[in-house]
Amino acid sequence: MILTIIEEPADILRQKTQDIAEITPDILQLMDDMYETMKHSDGVGIAAPQVNENVSVALVQLDDEDELFEMINPVITEVEGSDIFVEGCLSIPHVFGTVDRKTRIVVEYYNRQGEFIRLEAYDYLARAIQHEIDHLNGVLFTDKMIEEIKEEDLESYYEKYESEMNADD
Ligand code: CO
Repeated sequence: MILTIIEEPADILRQKTQDIAEITPDILQLMDDMYETMKHSDGVGIAAPQVNENVSVALVQLDDEDELFEMINPVITEVEGSDIFVEGCLSIPHVFGTVDRKTRIVVEYYNRQGEFIRLEAYDYLARAIQHEIDHLNGVLFTDKMIEEIKEEDLESYYEKYESEMNADD
């Protein structure tokens, strides 16, 4: 079921979420619904507060063919490096801006089978996970935004970023 995405301003987006003590059928259903909602909105990540649930669950999938990470009670345990890049958020439509994020993280969480997972993530995957875990702590990317990028300037921002990347090679 596609759920309604809560948009800023909303108290639920500003609360620290509750850890999940037991993976119940309701939690599995929530994860399925969050996935459907994320895909429907063309998002690369979604956190439970964005669908009005105050629990520590976040999903990240960068592309349809990429691995889906379903994270219960995720905690970042190691960080390294830093990179500034543009972000947006399903809960803050039409706002985009640059955020400084770690380029390598280790995140520990439980998957839907209740297995403990220790994931090492880099670059854009690491960025997306940091963005979603911020949601679980009531933090929005706009709190950390360095510079707002107007929606009509996004394409030229990406082009400039790519040409700088190529120049580094
Ligand atoms: Co977001």
